[in-house]
Amino acid sequence: MTNCNLTWHDAVITKDERRSKQQHSSCTLWFTGLSGSGKSTLANALSAKLFEKGIKEYVLDGDNIRHGLNADLGFTEKDRTENIRRIGEVAKLFVDSGTIVVTAFISPFSADRDCVREQFASNEFFEIFIDCPLAECEKRDPKKLYEKARRGEIKNFTGIDSPYEPPKHPDLTIRSDRLSVEEAITEILSFLQQQQIIK
Ligand code: PPS
Repeated sequence: MTNCNLTWHDAVITKDERRSKQQHSSCTLWFTGLSGSGKSTLANALSAKLFEKGIKEYVLDGDNIRHGLNADLGFTEKDRTENIRRIGEVAKLFVDSGTIVVTAFISPFSADRDCVREQFASNEFFEIFIDCPLAECEKRDPKKLYEKARRGEIKNFTGIDSPYEPPKHPDLTIRSDRLSVEEAITEILSFLQQQQIIK
């Protein structure tokens, strides 16, 4: 609940002023997809490529954020919703600072992702579906979490006993089971050029 004794202070330097001093705009690239679909791998490969080009970038990653900012949250529907709400707020700060922020969260619920989208102008938020069939994610199982979920040792595991709602109208879909990491990054970079986020 918002405290009525609080006052909003407008920043002295605006987002547009920050952007005007750099060679690129800022936005949120919201990666969504199953565990093991390649969100973190692609987010980090993209950030390395942007960094190389002198672009201000940052990755917010599910596993990492859950160690700190969201360490109090688990994997119930309510906690996942709160997880995504907080990340949306953090992403907004990064966009305000002139950064391209790449978020790598399962974010399984469409309504939660839509709520985040509503916080941004249409050219500041792009939902990128990291699309990989469950069978392939389960075959990869890099952290052996699917194995544990199948044995009933992890409850509410996305794709097993907790739902994943794929985006109906993503801004971009990356079939991570069909593209190499390099090919996927090339696609995302060309998307960013089309959207005039980068040159
Ligand atoms: S969510 O749904 O967006 O709130 O999840 P997220 O913050 O992205 O965290 C997902 C990572 O947490 C690990 N993990 C689980 N994932 C899904 N379901 C359950 N129950 C679960 N328990 C732990 C897992 O390592 C996820 O990382 P990724 O990178 O997606 O595999």
